[in-house]
Amino acid sequence: MQAKPHAKILGTGRAVPEKILSNADLEKMVDTSDQWIIERTGIRTRHIAEPGTGVAQLAAAAARNALDDAGLGPQDIDLIIVGTVSGDYKFPATACLVQQQLGIEQAAAFDVSAACSGFLYSLRLGESLLRSGDFRRALIIGGEVLSSQVDWSDRNTCTLFGDGAGAAIIGPSQDESGILALHLQSDGRHAGLLINPGCGSANPPRPDNLHLHAIRMEGREVFRHAVAAMSDGLDRVLGKTGLRLEDIDLLIPHQANLRIIQAVGKKVGMPEDRVYVNVDRFGNTSAASIPMAIDEARRSGRIAPGHLVAAVTFGAGFTWAAGLIRF
Ligand SMILES: CC(C)(COP(=O)(O)OP(=O)(O)OC[C@H]1O[C@@H](n2cnc3c(N)ncnc32)[C@H](O)[C@@H]1OP(=O)(O)O)[C@@H](O)C(=O)NCCC(=O)NCCS
Repeated sequence: MQAKPHAKILGTGRAVPEKILSNADLEKMVDTSDQWIIERTGIRTRHIAEPGTGVAQLAAAAARNALDDAGLGPQDIDLIIVGTVSGDYKFPATACLVQQQLGIEQAAAFDVSAACSGFLYSLRLGESLLRSGDFRRALIIGGEVLSSQVDWSDRNTCTLFGDGAGAAIIGPSQDESGILALHLQSDGRHAGLLINPGCGSANPPRPDNLHLHAIRMEGREVFRHAVAAMSDGLDRVLGKTGLRLEDIDLLIPHQANLRIIQAVGKKVGMPEDRVYVNVDRFGNTSAASIPMAIDEARRSGRIAPGHLVAAVTFGAGFTWAAGLIRF
């Protein structure tokens, strides 16, 4: 018998910048081709923020949509967590900027750094803090402007990433719907395989080392670990709940690369029509990918009340996470 969930998703929202960068645009910037990018990644377009647009603006827009969806206002939120590795500033936290932009007066606000796992890590924290009884409703956001960290002359990485934000409001569940299980894991031995080494305390910005401020990645190694970790994460949340793969209505893998998504689906044995894909339109939006996909799937009817949704993700650290949510 499954335990009754403590918290549930009350509303969701998303936001992306207007500007779209196509593979044809990238062909003019680096030695690449539309065909290579589609065959190796499945990505056709990605949304890119105008220079100077920080994550907070996208995150606040996604949050407003989520509040509207939930029928709630700023006064109903007392906890804000933003999963991001591309926050507006070193400090203060992007969550505090979201609080400022939304006019949320009474809340605790902080960021979580878990790269592409940022949303599920934040969801886990938010759910635990609601469980503590100290908070009533939490705004959980995954948002990134990774275009600010891309080396636009490096064809190995510049085709992959996009900008965006996704938000969810969580509050107490009165019924069987809600967050059934979450599993978080990390393996710091691989910290160097996907990294932006610049501009932190190890390499503070100086005129001669600004080139360090860019995403570097061992793509093949990341690919291999991502497939194994996301599949294992799904097994673990199914194991925690006693639910089976057949019970899942929709699997939402982190949208990094279509080949990774397909490999995860195949490894766990999920039919393609129950695996969500939007990486073709948004690229890899890191922490934003899962909440953006959840919101898109809800609004398009792919997720309906009663549906069981599994989300799995993997990112720098390495970090990975999986969740099972009944809508
Ligand atoms: C990045 C990735 C698409 C590369 O695909 P791949 O099949 O592993 O390709 P490789 O890295 O082996 O590179 C193969 C060749 O393509 C080239 N190449 C890389 N990017 C290219 C591009 N955009 N256009 C054309 N050629 C490209 C490489 O230079 C290499 O050329 P070489 O053989 O002459 O050295 C793939 O490894 C990947 O998706 N990894 C995971 C990335 C990811 O999701 N990261 C975030 C996780 S959260």
